[in-house]
Amino acid sequence: MCGIVGYLGENAVRISAKKLELLQYRGYDSAGVGFIQNGKIHLSKTVGSVKNLRADYDSFSAIAHTRWATHGNVCTRNAHPHTSGENWAIVHNGIIENYTKLREGEFVSDTDSEVISFLLEKHGKGLNSVIETAKNLEGSFAILALEKGSELYAIKNKSPLFASANKSGIMFASDPICFCGFSDTYYTFCDKEVAKASGKTLKFYDFDGNEIAKECVGLDIDQTQSDKGDFDTFMRKEIYDIPFCQKRIYETYTNSYLLPIIKLFQSADEVWFIGCGTAYHACAYGEDVFAKAGKKTRAFIASEFRYSHIFPSKNTLCVFISQSGETADTLGALEKVDKICKTVALTNVGYSALAKSCQMVLPVLAGEERAVASTKAYVCQLTVLSLIARAISDRVVAIEIVDKQTIDELSGVAKRLVIGFDSKELFVLGRNADYVTAMECALKVKEVSYINANAYPTGELKHGFIALLSNDAQVLVFATSDDLMKKNCSGAQECKSRGANVTVITTSEHEFAGVDEIIKVGSYIQSVVFAQVFALECAIKRDTNPDMPKNLAKSVTVE
Ligand code: G6P
Repeated sequence: MCGIVGYLGENAVRISAKKLELLQYRGYDSAGVGFIQNGKIHLSKTVGSVKNLRADYDSFSAIAHTRWATHGNVCTRNAHPHTSGENWAIVHNGIIENYTKLREGEFVSDTDSEVISFLLEKHGKGLNSVIETAKNLEGSFAILALEKGSELYAIKNKSPLFASANKSGIMFASDPICFCGFSDTYYTFCDKEVAKASGKTLKFYDFDGNEIAKECVGLDIDQTQSDKGDFDTFMRKEIYDIPFCQKRIYETYTNSYLLPIIKLFQSADEVWFIGCGTAYHACAYGEDVFAKAGKKTRAFIASEFRYSHIFPSKNTLCVFISQSGETADTLGALEKVDKICKTVALTNVGYSALAKSCQMVLPVLAGEERAVASTKAYVCQLTVLSLIARAISDRVVAIEIVDKQTIDELSGVAKRLVIGFDSKELFVLGRNADYVTAMECALKVKEVSYINANAYPTGELKHGFIALLSNDAQVLVFATSDDLMKKNCSGAQECKSRGANVTVITTSEHEFAGVDEIIKVGSYIQSVVFAQVFALECAIKRDTNPDMPKNLAKSVTVE
């Protein structure tokens, strides 16, 4: 994780710090910048967000870092950049797996990253030292190294890294989003590549020091939705983006657009869905909806799947779902199967490693998502999956477009519901597709409000967790499938008879007499949006920041 930016040109510190703000979705435990003044390397660091970072320094070259702590706790000493002498400062995204072997002598921080500045000092000066250092490192790394003479170097292996240049300067960044407003083109690093920026010149090399000719590509990033506007949080703003994004999906996934996609799905013996976190929940929805469409299908958590003894056959289609397309575990799972079977990426980021490595890309079309907890991208993933399943079989009803008035109403209900909600623990139930919503609701509530919310399949109630229910238990039941209404109803009643406070989110209000509250929704997808606004209102009530929850990051580029 972590985000890195480097700049060679006038106002390097201010520009790097400003661009770093765009990378805080990758972590925000601490921030720092390294720069040259009067021929010497200087560092400025802070714990917490980039907005606390002092960046009013004049320098022609700078490297900057926003951290998600992996090795070493959150403190200024462990904040990047790191130095091990007078000649080099480095920032790093990734994990140096052989760092314990490389740590010889005195180290200031507890990080794995400090070995990089140590090796650079050890190997001397210039490109030669950078290449020697790169060859000694194992693991995933995107590194920017600033040399005392003002030269800026970049090294990449497995973690994302991009470069761009215009007539005023040269920029490196973890995400091309930083190049918006700077240049219309950029370069993508491949693994085991190095770059050197000096004056106005940018050159790329392999790890043997051979120069590489690299083509730049056009920057095509939709930043029109990146402003919070009048909304209190990005999370709320992004929930309100849902109607627009879904409309764009319907306009894009037309019959002719769907034709090759349907062909691919139909020709597969089985369809497997693989992802992490919220994206895994989209996988679980995919499993349910494609089973309805008559396909053999399974959903996997990528971090488990990648090390499991389960392998696809050559006629399995593996669909990798990831908002960012950079999740390390999802990429690891892809690496496991990509020589065996056909692969598809359902991702929101067209230039991501996942999109580049799969044989087909299904765009999620949610636009930039800033809040750590995914909302609009999740609904868009479900919408795309339902449209494909619907195109395969008319047993599936495609997810409809949610409108603004519905979001207003659901938000009002959620706000009222959380007023009387004081539980530190929440049980969220559902069956099949509604269990998927229960899992997503529990995850969202945990992520943004820190309430211990846990999802269970309603039928599992009597097999264990009913032991936890008592008078102060708070239970949410999602029930939108007609064929499972009665089963969910008995589950709700069983919770009620153990004294729990039970709220049911349902399309059929007549079934649930005797529960504490019935929230009527018009459809499955409305219940999903309710889960999102409910989590948001829990966060608002508890005065937490739903956009940047503690300990989390939006893009998890390490294992
Ligand atoms: C992190 C985020 C989650 C996200 C998951 C997968 O854990 O905090 O919100 O669902 O990564 O991310 P992806 O980009 O692969 O969808």
